[in-house]
Formats: sequence, structure tokens, C-alpha cells
Amino acid sequence: MGNELLEKYVLFRHRDVEDIHKIDGYTANDGYTALKKALETMKPEDVTNVVKNAGLRGRGGAGFPAGVKWSFIPKDIFPKYIVVNADESEPGTFKDREIMTYNPHQLIEGIIMCAYAVGAETAYIYGRGEFRTLFLGRLQEAVDEAYAKGFLGKNILGSDFSMDLYLHLGAGAYICGEETALLNSLEGLMGQPRSRPPFPAVEGLYAKPTVINNVETLTNVPPIVANGADWYHQFGTERSPGTKIFSLSGRVNKPGNYELPLGTPIRYLIEECGGGVIDGKAVKGILPAGASSAIVGPEALDVTMDYEAMAAAGTMLGSASFIIMDETVDAVWAAEKNVKFFKHESCGKCSPCREGSFWLTSVYRKLREGRGSKKDVEMLETIINQMEGNCFCLLGEFTVPGVRTSLALFRDEYEALARNGDEMAQPDHNLVLAEQMLNSQSKV
Ligand SMILES: Cc1cc2nc3c(=O)[nH]c(=O)nc-3n(C[C@H](O)[C@H](O)[C@H](O)COP(=O)(O)O)c2cc1C
Ligand code: SF4
Repeated sequence: MGNELLEKYVLFRHRDVEDIHKIDGYTANDGYTALKKALETMKPEDVTNVVKNAGLRGRGGAGFPAGVKWSFIPKDIFPKYIVVNADESEPGTFKDREIMTYNPHQLIEGIIMCAYAVGAETAYIYGRGEFRTLFLGRLQEAVDEAYAKGFLGKNILGSDFSMDLYLHLGAGAYICGEETALLNSLEGLMGQPRSRPPFPAVEGLYAKPTVINNVETLTNVPPIVANGADWYHQFGTERSPGTKIFSLSGRVNKPGNYELPLGTPIRYLIEECGGGVIDGKAVKGILPAGASSAIVGPEALDVTMDYEAMAAAGTMLGSASFIIMDETVDAVWAAEKNVKFFKHESCGKCSPCREGSFWLTSVYRKLREGRGSKKDVEMLETIINQMEGNCFCLLGEFTVPGVRTSLALFRDEYEALARNGDEMAQPDHNLVLAEQMLNSQSKV
């Protein structure tokens, strides 16, 4: 169930082919033939060009074209690095771990081709700390198998190209999925973001040119190189080509990962793949990009899941982690949960995020404990207005859309929780202080 729109899986090939996680199973099913083609018949820039022409967009959230990113890497600076972002900490996202567990060689083959394309000899897969078992088990086994068969190491497949691939685990922090914090963590520094520019393509790992791509992005590369850019364009829309893995969770009958062409309507994901909403309840809200999402209501069910249509609907595709709220879900409870996540994961480097997420959780707690007033509901707006555009990195900015859209869509639930008029509520001196502090805050 879930791939009726695809004849065969492009990324989740393990669902069609047994044992593809083992190197013999992978090579028996065309595995590493794209790499052979690239090394034997293509120049490095040809590989970049085919990825560029395919229109492959980064699957880590921003949707930046992968081939364009690779073309930014300077040719004359050495060494250069590939860093694979396998942090996958966005609530509701659980696609990369399925690739790494069940189809790891397709990812490894994609990494080798990316390294060949940009002239890098060292690559790292950076995973969050919770992936310890996966990294010490399945994924490491696949890397060892690739070395043993000559797909990694010196003179790959008898060519002049050599490279090494290492697995690295962080300690488990959402901010370490942000590419510059990830680089700091990989270098052994505190996982806090760096200023950009310089961008990692110019000054990345150890201040050298670095490509950072998501696991799913690079897993697309072998089939693109094997079959060509036109083949890839048969899936998806003109500006969002290809297939995408949608992680579906929340109040649906069959949560899970579903690989579908980009441009498939949200309704298809929920009803055909997810078996509809539990107990046939109505959809109340959809978070298409996990906790970072602007929430959209049921009127968005026929919006197509591609970068452009989701933005036009007032939200974003992000890493495509669709969390479904039904009519039984308490909207204020749900928003509070997200805000607590952001407060917990704030790295503390800048005050709009560190303080803003703290005060948001305080106001939510007050409201949910029945101690709030309408003024507190307005305070939520004041806080997010102060945070928006002032945070050092996107983690802080991601806190805002969920609160703003929750307030807009479910205002009645907030007001029902708030006390009836300011005069009934005791002044909360902490919140008065927060308001003063936020009003006097300068831009970071
Ligand atoms: C707070 C935060 C968390 C992020 N977490 C991830 C993550 O877990 N995995 C990921 O691939 N990208 C994540 N990103 C996006 C990365 O910064 C970066 O854009 C991405 O790895 C680039 O790869 P792509 O071009 O293949 O999408 C995150 C960004 C932010 C701001
Ligand atoms: S917005 Fe500021 S405090 Fe929040 S994670 Fe980014 S740098 Fe850290």
C-alpha cells in the first residue's frame, strides 16, 4: 500500500527487492552500476550536470537544487569534504533511518558519486546519537562490505578516484541537524550554528569546501545517473521533479513512510496510504513539515505535496513529515507540545530564541492550567512577533509559524481557556517582566 502511483520504488527499493541491504543483493539488482558508469564514462562535471538537469532538490527541508549546490564547490581548493546529514531530529520525520537500515548501499553509492563529482576524498555520515545501534550495525556493515568489494578506498573500481567514508554520531540534538551546527559538532566543538556567509560550499568542515546533503537527497543520485535526467522528470511536477518519502503520523489508521511522486495531493496520502483518520473523524489540522510547520486546515486536503504548492498554501513541504490532527485533538495542548520541544532544543546562543521559547512555554502552561487571561493569549502574539526575524538561526524561527497559525485557526480554544477578562486574573509579575524584556530586545 502506498506506492500505487509508482510502478517501482525509486528510493525504497528494499520494499520491492529482498536482501538489498546486503551487497550481494544490491549488486544482483543493478547496484553500483551507476557508479561504474560514472567512473568509466563520465567526467566529474557530467555527474553534476545530470543531477542539475534532473532538478533534484535537497530533501533535508529547504529544497535547494543539489546539482547547483555541487557546482558551487571550488575546483582548486583541497581537501574538500562531503557531509551527509543523517541527524533526522524533526518531530514526525522518520524516513532517513528506513533508507539507512534497509537500502544503505544506494545511499553509499550516491555519496561516492557526489564525492567523485566535486573531487572530495573524504565523506562523513553524521547521525544523531540515538542512531547508535543503526550506525554500529547495519550501516557500518554496509560500509565495510563496500570497502571489501572495492567500491570505497583506494582506486575505486580500478579508476584514479579514491575516497574514504566514515560514520560519526553526535550526542542527539535537534540543532545539530542545522548544517553549520552539525559541522561544529563534527569538529568536536559545541553544537551551535555558525554565521553564514561563508557558506559551507566555500568554508565548511575544517574551513574547507564542503557539500552537505540529506540522506534522501543522495539516495536519489544512483537512479538519476543510471537512467538520466529525462527519466527522473517523469515523476513529480516540473519544478519539483522526482519521488519523495512522506512520513505520515498522528491521528491516522496507518502511520508510516510512503514514497510517492511529488505533486500528489495530501488527501491521497491520508486516505489511500494512511487508511484515513482514526474512527472516521474529521481532519482538524495538518502539520506538513513536523513541528516547524505552519498548520493548515482541512481546506488544504487537495493541495499537492510539492515545494511550490505547499508554499502557496501558506506552509512548507520541509522534510515532508505530515502530522495529522483530528477533531479530538486539543489545539492548545498540541501547540504547547511543539513549543516545549523548541525550548528544550534551543541551543541558547541568542536571546530571542532562548528567552522567547522559555516565555512561550510559561504562557502556554499558565493557559492550560486555567490561570490565563485574554491578555496572555495576546502575549503569545507579542512573543512570536519579537522572535520572528530576530533569531540567529532557523531553529528559533521555526518556533513561530506553529504558534501563529494555531492562534489564527483555533483562537476560540485559546479564549475558552483564558479567564474571562483581565480583571479576574492575578497579574503575573514574571510575564510583565518578560514583556518589558522582549520590548527592549535589540536585534541579534
Ligand atoms: C533546526 C534545523 C534542523 C535541521 N535538521 C535537519 C536534519 O535533521 N536533516 C537534514 O537533512 N537537514 C536538516 N536541516 C537542514 C540542513 O541545515 C541543510 O539545509 C540540509 O542538510 C541540506 O541538505 P539538502 O540540500 O540535501 O536538503 C535542519 C535545519 C535546521 C534549521
Ligand atoms: S535561534 Fe539562536 S538560540 Fe535558537 S538554536 Fe538558533 S542560535 Fe541557538
